[in-house]
Amino acid sequence: MCGIIGATSSRSVGKILIKGLHAMEYRGYDSAGVALNQDSEVFRLRSLGKVSSLEELMINNKPKAKSGIAHTRWATHGAPSEENAHPHGSHNEIYIVHNGIIENHDEIREKLKEKGYKIASETDSELIAHLIHLNKTDSSSTLEALIKTTTELKGAFSIAAISSEEKGKIYAAKQKSPLLIGKGIEENFVASDPLAIANITEKFYLLEDGDFAEITKNDIKIFNSNGEPVQREETKIDATPTSTSKGNYTHFMEKEIYEQPDALGNTINGRLGENDVLDNIFGLGSSDAFKKVKRIQFVACGTSLHAAKTARKWFEEICEVPCYIDFASEYRYRNPIVEDHTLFVTISQSGETADTLAALEYARAEKYVGIVTICNVPTSTMAREADWKIFTNAGPEIGVASTKAFTTQLAALMMLALSIAKSQDKNADKRKQATQELRETPALVDQAFSLKENISQITQNISTKHNALFLGRGMYFSIAQEGALKLKEISYIHAEAYPAGELKHGPLALVDEEIPVIALAPEDSLVEKLLSNLEEVKARGGTLYVFGNANSTIEVKKGKFINMPDCGDYNAPIIYTIPLQILAYEVACLRGTDLDQPRNLAKSVTVE
Ligand code: F6R
Repeated sequence: MCGIIGATSSRSVGKILIKGLHAMEYRGYDSAGVALNQDSEVFRLRSLGKVSSLEELMINNKPKAKSGIAHTRWATHGAPSEENAHPHGSHNEIYIVHNGIIENHDEIREKLKEKGYKIASETDSELIAHLIHLNKTDSSSTLEALIKTTTELKGAFSIAAISSEEKGKIYAAKQKSPLLIGKGIEENFVASDPLAIANITEKFYLLEDGDFAEITKNDIKIFNSNGEPVQREETKIDATPTSTSKGNYTHFMEKEIYEQPDALGNTINGRLGENDVLDNIFGLGSSDAFKKVKRIQFVACGTSLHAAKTARKWFEEICEVPCYIDFASEYRYRNPIVEDHTLFVTISQSGETADTLAALEYARAEKYVGIVTICNVPTSTMAREADWKIFTNAGPEIGVASTKAFTTQLAALMMLALSIAKSQDKNADKRKQATQELRETPALVDQAFSLKENISQITQNISTKHNALFLGRGMYFSIAQEGALKLKEISYIHAEAYPAGELKHGPLALVDEEIPVIALAPEDSLVEKLLSNLEEVKARGGTLYVFGNANSTIEVKKGKFINMPDCGDYNAPIIYTIPLQILAYEVACLRGTDLDQPRNLAKSVTVE
């Protein structure tokens, strides 16, 4: 999604801004732009498409400004175009970049038109620049005009602004959309993503909702909405260049797939004892609080939702508590009935997904036992809003398609199930087995990588198809859903997942000689049932690609059977995810898609 960077320095900032935009490319965007406070005017460049096109324009123009703002835009209001790209300006004086959505834009547009403002783009963002300009006429400063402007805005926003009259100064405002200040030596920064400035500073101030900032190269002033100075704690964020570069890999997604043994190690390390999880790994008081939990409400989006759906069985089996699972975008609109002793759990890689955050906010007012967040970004809003939390410690995930975030979320969810069961003194034998299996997971993931050669034998065929069907039963239906999501989002092949038993209730009509059917067949209590479902596919001439145990009795004549490493009942869902990630990655490579930044998608979805 959109990315903001601003810099004010004693050196020229063009390169810093472009580098920052490059670092945020992973978030997904369609256009980019920069506004520099140069000479007496603001110099603006915008371009449709990649940051490299903007970079070329910068090289041709060689601007020398020492302060400025820049942006990558992911279209929400108005098509991707140069006119709609940020920064947006008003009267060659005020320039802004904006992340988020202004819900009352129609009303503001009408007001501005009545006052004679000419609106050049279709965006809601441009209106902010004009409103600041308008409010400046009866304000004593740009800061005051910015504060007045935000009182008129409904929705979520983070804003960085400059004025042609105030060289070297950047203004910022935050409401329900991430924004932080970076502190350097004789230079300071504002950014919506710490990765944008990670290579120039480690010191950050995380702005809170309702905060404003005024930044020069030597000074950072933060204010509340009354314009009164407030202090925010200095935070160290270590996003080292190695974790944000591709290294020897072709794509970030490939690197992140192969990082999973380390990532999983980082999720579980220091959190497991001999036969159980350690106490309070979700924060002080969590083990005590979990004693009361009688049911769990999970809320998440996309891949993170698949993690909840997969993990449900662990909670039902090890903690003996029922689980409710909702799409974050749907949860609050169904007016959920909250029973006593229900724990609310959000799962999010970024910790900034707008739908999940809105659900969390809704849950805050309900009578939940408390809110747990499973998240990969310790500085995220979700991490700050939750009562208890666990960080997956997977390291930055840059590829838009989630890989290591998913498997580490599963490990964290297993630890949540173990923590609750331990607090309630339930199923010590199952806890012991699950703890041991969790410990073996990184090594098993490593073994699963050796399947790559086998997978390469089936990808050529799949890459030529328009559709694919994924089947599984029990928890493996959710893993199949995750496999289908991976394939469709990066290869653009239409892929559906079904519980194998549902096949005969409709989707079997799709099975012909063309459609590849990918089935997950671990030797669990449901494998016999799955076998007969696969016979239904064979009888229709379908091509089967089955992932299963070495001692499986499943025979595949048309297609391929791929032997999985020998894993346990508890860690198998994590291990069965790996070949599906490799499959999607290899197919997308064969189809030549921009798989780290697939079309129309964004990494951190900060709009509803
Ligand atoms: C798919 C994917 C998305 C995210 C979803 C939630 O590969 O990455 O479906 O899982 O947008 O994002 P987070 O986990 O950051 O809340």
